Amino acid sequence: MINHIKKIIAEYISEAINAVNPNAENTPVTKAEIAELLEYPPDINMGDLAFPCFKLSKQLKKAPNIIAETIKSALADIPDLKDKIKSCESAGGYLNITLNDKFYSDNILADIFEQKDKYGSSDIGAGKTVVIDYSSPNMSRPLGVAHMRPTNIGNSIKKIHQFCGYKTVAINYIGDWGTPQGKIITAYKLWCGDMKEIEEKGVYKLLELYVKFGVEAEKDASLNDTARSWFAKLENGDEEAVGLWKKFMEISVTEIKRIYNIMGIEFDSYNGESFFEDKMDAVVEELKEKNLLKLDRGAQIVDLEEYNMPPCLILKTDGATLYATRDIASAIYRAKTYKFDKNIYVNDMRQNLHFAQWIKVVELMGYEWARNCINIPFGIMNYEGQVFRTRQGNTFVLDDLLKMAVEKVEQIMEEKNPGESNLPAEEKKEIAKKVGIGAVMFGDLANGRLKDVNFSWEDALNFTGNSGPYVQYTYARICGVLEKASEFSESSEKSEKSAKADISDITILYKNVIITNNLEREIIKLLSQFPEKVSVAEREYEPSVICRYLLDICAVFNRFYHDCPILKAGSGEIKNSRLALCEAAKYVIGGGLWLIGLEKTAKV
Ligand code: ARG
Repeated sequence: MINHIKKIIAEYISEAINAVNPNAENTPVTKAEIAELLEYPPDINMGDLAFPCFKLSKQLKKAPNIIAETIKSALADIPDLKDKIKSCESAGGYLNITLNDKFYSDNILADIFEQKDKYGSSDIGAGKTVVIDYSSPNMSRPLGVAHMRPTNIGNSIKKIHQFCGYKTVAINYIGDWGTPQGKIITAYKLWCGDMKEIEEKGVYKLLELYVKFGVEAEKDASLNDTARSWFAKLENGDEEAVGLWKKFMEISVTEIKRIYNIMGIEFDSYNGESFFEDKMDAVVEELKEKNLLKLDRGAQIVDLEEYNMPPCLILKTDGATLYATRDIASAIYRAKTYKFDKNIYVNDMRQNLHFAQWIKVVELMGYEWARNCINIPFGIMNYEGQVFRTRQGNTFVLDDLLKMAVEKVEQIMEEKNPGESNLPAEEKKEIAKKVGIGAVMFGDLANGRLKDVNFSWEDALNFTGNSGPYVQYTYARICGVLEKASEFSESSEKSEKSAKADISDITILYKNVIITNNLEREIIKLLSQFPEKVSVAEREYEPSVICRYLLDICAVFNRFYHDCPILKAGSGEIKNSRLALCEAAKYVIGGGLWLIGLEKTAKV
């Protein structure tokens, strides 16, 4: 979404361009293109907006700086522009524009104060449905740290789409089908057999059994055959196999939901791989009918050589379906059930080939919607410089990482305010939870999605910069100022002094905000960019765009907070203006935190 100021300025630039090219057959650029082209100069002293003249230079066959000069003088001839544009400079092929203070702040703040929590949202997705498959762990194991990225990235992509007006369907496609299910049943039968113990210890006992299976199967390969036959029983609806599988599934889902709850994550559907078991024959039939299946060494495949990919395996030699077969069946189901406009999968980039293959197969089946199936890959996460071990016995449980985070935050809070914080213990705990979990989530999301990430406690818990706690802390700081302002005004009212600033005044006086320095101006500039950042994040499926934006705005806000007295400002007008900036920043930072799934806290 292009911000409102850019649209207004684009109108004038367009008028200026047309004035100097009266004979042009077609306008060389449209207003919408101008608005898209407008940039933010890197240094606020250069101006608030910059119009690059390079594209026009090619079309008009004139040097960019000449064009910038020409537009500048044409703008000067437009009546009444003085109350919108303070000055223009041509520099290096750009036309740098400094906006009139009042026009700038009135417009941006009016948008924010009118839309409040909705500022930055749009309706570009109105009437459209997006299905997002994320987190999707395998059953009978706790969530590992490796699940953090797909969970966080998927959750944020969902929220970003909701903010852009889409209807979203969040799907947890649990890996609950295939030979691993046979393995866990085998392990249970051989080494446990006690459902009470499983119920007590939950998924951790299942993990232990699964790990034991791996160790024992290395020594005795026949265990794999037993596992396969248990899975075959499960497929054939054997009562005992189905009963055990259901129980293990229930235990697994209860545990993952507990963690999702801690992280504030929700799903609309838990239809995992098993849900598609009875929809598989139809897919195989359809592939046959469409002449896509080929017998290859006993297995049924779709040949993808023409597309430079290895074949997509549909049926194993024993006739069992595969991961790809189930993904095809589930995509067909999603297309029918949700009539999606986008069908998104958030997965480790090591699965790129798998997605490319089956999406190609769906395309070859003639489904138009194949092009709306989108694989959103992400890079690998390391922990303190080391690769997370997901091999047997080394699962790093996400719950443990989250607990560590909360403990560490409690410690930091205690060190910062040893024993003297006047917050009740309960509340302190609540804050430590929000900040600890937020630190871990932000530590993940702040990295570009495709990058490999190194999770480090030092970075994640750095309260003074580039971290979740830093953003939450800034938000709390703003809430503190606003709260003080309202108390202050109440007490001054009581003493019958002229009460200049109270919270209700701020909403009235945002129209007369005065800009007294460049820090205030920079806050306005950053606030104005929020809607654009949301669209970039939506278009690129990049929550890190929001994280980086939050860090930028917090950095400027904190400089402003240190350098510019707010409650003790020289005049009532300045105080009101600065409070209005605080309130506006609160909406925007609050909105940004929501988009990346972090909790807000009014105190830290
Ligand atoms: N369960 C899979 C895994 O843990 C991820 C599933 C991703 N979603 C999908 N539709 N294939 O690797």
